[in-house]
Amino acid sequence: MKKVGVAILGLGVVGGGTYTILTTHREFYQQTQDLDISVENVLELRRERAVELGIDESKIASNIEEICSNPDVDIVIEVMGGVEPAKTFVLKALGAGKSVVTSNKELFCKYSHELENAAKHNHVGLFYEASCVGGVPVIRSLLDNLQGNEITSLVGIINGTTNYILTKMTNDGVTYAEALKEAQRLGYAEANPTADVDGYDAAYKLSILSSISFHKKIPFSCIHREGITGISPIDIQYGKRLGYVLKLLAIGKNTPKGVEVRVHPAFIRKNHPLASVSDSYNAVYITGDSVGDVMLYGRGAGAEPTGSAIVGDVIYCATHTRYRYSTFENTENAKPSTKFISNFGSVYYIRMNAEDKTGELAKVTAILSKCGISVAQVIQEESDASGNFKAPLVVITHMTREEAVNKAISAINENCDSTVVESVIRVVS
Ligand code: HSE
Repeated sequence: MKKVGVAILGLGVVGGGTYTILTTHREFYQQTQDLDISVENVLELRRERAVELGIDESKIASNIEEICSNPDVDIVIEVMGGVEPAKTFVLKALGAGKSVVTSNKELFCKYSHELENAAKHNHVGLFYEASCVGGVPVIRSLLDNLQGNEITSLVGIINGTTNYILTKMTNDGVTYAEALKEAQRLGYAEANPTADVDGYDAAYKLSILSSISFHKKIPFSCIHREGITGISPIDIQYGKRLGYVLKLLAIGKNTPKGVEVRVHPAFIRKNHPLASVSDSYNAVYITGDSVGDVMLYGRGAGAEPTGSAIVGDVIYCATHTRYRYSTFENTENAKPSTKFISNFGSVYYIRMNAEDKTGELAKVTAILSKCGISVAQVIQEESDASGNFKAPLVVITHMTREEAVNKAISAINENCDSTVVESVIRVVS
């Protein structure tokens, strides 16, 4: 039986989950994989956390150097999160000839070029399944099973916190602030929720997933990113009336004209498979030229789902001798030949607050028409009887371009004294 020693850097939620899976399944992996996987070291400042998990004090390393020089450690698992000191520790481990398994999306997204060079140079493996969509096996599906395809697009719900918040707003009609508070109470959202609600977490993951899908470096800086903080329940309710569900989508498309990569709230039809992905669940909908559409669904976060992805990488690493690296030239920036499309095409939902007076709707539609935007549907509510003459006016456009919509919104806000554009949401078909 092959002996495999691992070290775990960080015993937070994911580190603890990984330790638990490895220890409770040790015999199972001996029987099924012919591997004896033992945790030889942990690196954690809070000794009491290690003790709480039942880790022998002799396994607690004082520093990364102790782990790098431990001949019984073959694989280092980095689950600390953040860029530093994780980056320094991973580079030291790779330099010491240890393979690395990481769940760190920010680190991998921003520095995969440096980490991968170090891994190649030292002839060791670098695995990152747990960096994207937790327990959902999307990375190895793309790297292995789907390699026979040209991947043309991927559309994902890849952040559980925002999916929980939007689901709560949709089902219970609560405000963003109320749903966020509940997400924090349940431990989905951090005290500082910026990384999730402003779309950074989804954009790190999209950068990683689209790079491996399209065989091109897609840097984080090239991703158009919008979060969910400005979403109002009224838009969710209008969306419902129109047969749509609101989601924070991560979209990557590889077209002959260029690459489109964006994270933003979007309406999708309620019969789209992604529409039923609720609460904190994640899913990625991938389209390949041979396979057609594939959807992977499951838990995108949490101790054991993410630990499952990490342990899968440990077993893969221990049972493979030829390590694979990126299929593209992995540099810090995209190649100059990669064209990114920002003026992308979409259907748009535009909600205005308009005074209910003769000619106002005609003015708005004239501006849309002048900007080349064709209207597919209009909802105009009656103004109320309380002396408030403003009433919601909702327009769904036909397929148009981002620049045309931006031009039309500026023109409406400038030229229609009695109409204000309150929200604009893309509709993804
Ligand atoms: N905070 C992330 C989410 C999980 O809510 O999906 C880790 O990426």
